[in-house]
Amino acid sequence: MAKLASGRVTEKSSELLDKFNASLPFDKKLYAEDIAGSIAHATMLEAQGILTQLELKDIVHGLGMIQKEIEEGIFVFDIADEDIHMAIEKRLTDLIGDTGKKLHTARSRNDQVALDFRLYVQKNTLKIKDFLLELERTFLDIAKEHTTTMLPGMTHLQHAQPINFAYHMLAYMSMFKRDIERLQSAYKRNNFSPIGCAALAGTPHDLNREMTAQLLGFEAPTVNCLDTVSDRDFALDILYNIAAIMTHISRLSEELILWSSSEFKFVSLSDAYSTSSSIMPQKKNPDVPELLRGKTGRVYGNLISLLTVLKGLPLAYNKDMQEDKEGVFDSVENVLLSIEILTQALKTMTVHVDNMEKACKIGHLSATDLADYLVQKCDMPFRDAYKITGAIVVEAEKMGVDLSEMPVEKLQALDSRIGEDISKYLDLRHSMNARNSQGGTATDATQKQIAYFQKWLGGY
Ligand code: ARG
Repeated sequence: MAKLASGRVTEKSSELLDKFNASLPFDKKLYAEDIAGSIAHATMLEAQGILTQLELKDIVHGLGMIQKEIEEGIFVFDIADEDIHMAIEKRLTDLIGDTGKKLHTARSRNDQVALDFRLYVQKNTLKIKDFLLELERTFLDIAKEHTTTMLPGMTHLQHAQPINFAYHMLAYMSMFKRDIERLQSAYKRNNFSPIGCAALAGTPHDLNREMTAQLLGFEAPTVNCLDTVSDRDFALDILYNIAAIMTHISRLSEELILWSSSEFKFVSLSDAYSTSSSIMPQKKNPDVPELLRGKTGRVYGNLISLLTVLKGLPLAYNKDMQEDKEGVFDSVENVLLSIEILTQALKTMTVHVDNMEKACKIGHLSATDLADYLVQKCDMPFRDAYKITGAIVVEAEKMGVDLSEMPVEKLQALDSRIGEDISKYLDLRHSMNARNSQGGTATDATQKQIAYFQKWLGGY
């Protein structure tokens, strides 16, 4: 194929090479970023006296037409153009003639692709953040309804101590708040403009990189051009941030799957977000959280892929770096879809308060309260109290009752130091509300956490 940039290579390239070398099939997604970058670059070239006013006008007009053609689906993508940058530049020259050839003054595809990709990453960093904020509002709404809904808090997936469901939701809210903050810090760290770095060493043209940076919404231009065209840390940042978000989504998904099983029956996902079996008509399957858990694997893969692509590359640009985009596109698209569907599944989920509370009666959840009682009221060293409590739990098991339902006389028969007031301490709700330390699960302490998150969300 005859190339726009045939330069040193004059023979026609093979079709196989065109197919192998091209990024156009996937980087056409960057057309709007490419056009915006080119308009900013041309505007700066005109301000610096490198292009005339008329040339700028033609270029801006031509790029506008191309954007329209792409959006109307009539733009002809030719794989021989290799990538979106060349495809647009070639079409520009077709449309406006020789002036189109001036657009590439003082830039290279190396800074151009770094710009386009960074613009894409920055835009989607904000979009993911906005989607997470909606998820956070959903957690908060659920939490407000359930500060007194008790369920067994677990360690090792074994019943441990009673907590409330709001508290459990706020644990997730805390994780996603950190994710939001990570996105914000990545946005700030990466908000510097690559354009004007040219191939690797800068350019002899008298540029104003501050101006292009400002036109494109960046804080400033990057500092070192060699780093700028070699750098894909901004892409690693978004891939890691997405991996962390999906880890949190996956942990919640695992709980939703468990909670919707017949063994737990703590929640039911709405029919709109459940699926059925093709053979077993009675089944309602939690495909949504399962798929969310499954998708976590691929976004980890995308992160590891890019780390691996970059690890052995000498400065500056190497063609290996063309492998940076598909994984990022895939992670971004999947995380957006994942956050959106998780939010909907949570909004429409039914919480089975009675089943959660019933489950608190399994596993002697107030055993720690008995030990604490023996320490506080009977002046016993904690290790002794722990041992006695253990023996009492064994007795409760034999009787087939939960510790919270053991008759006082029976408890006193096992240890005479136990007073009449013990029942109050073994009561499960009392046990939950006793954990009133800062950040604890007592309804009061949970309400304070709700107020904290409410205030934080109010800032958006
Ligand atoms: N399509 C290329 C990529 O995605 C653009 C940069 C090409 N630069 C070069 N010197 N070959 O990485």
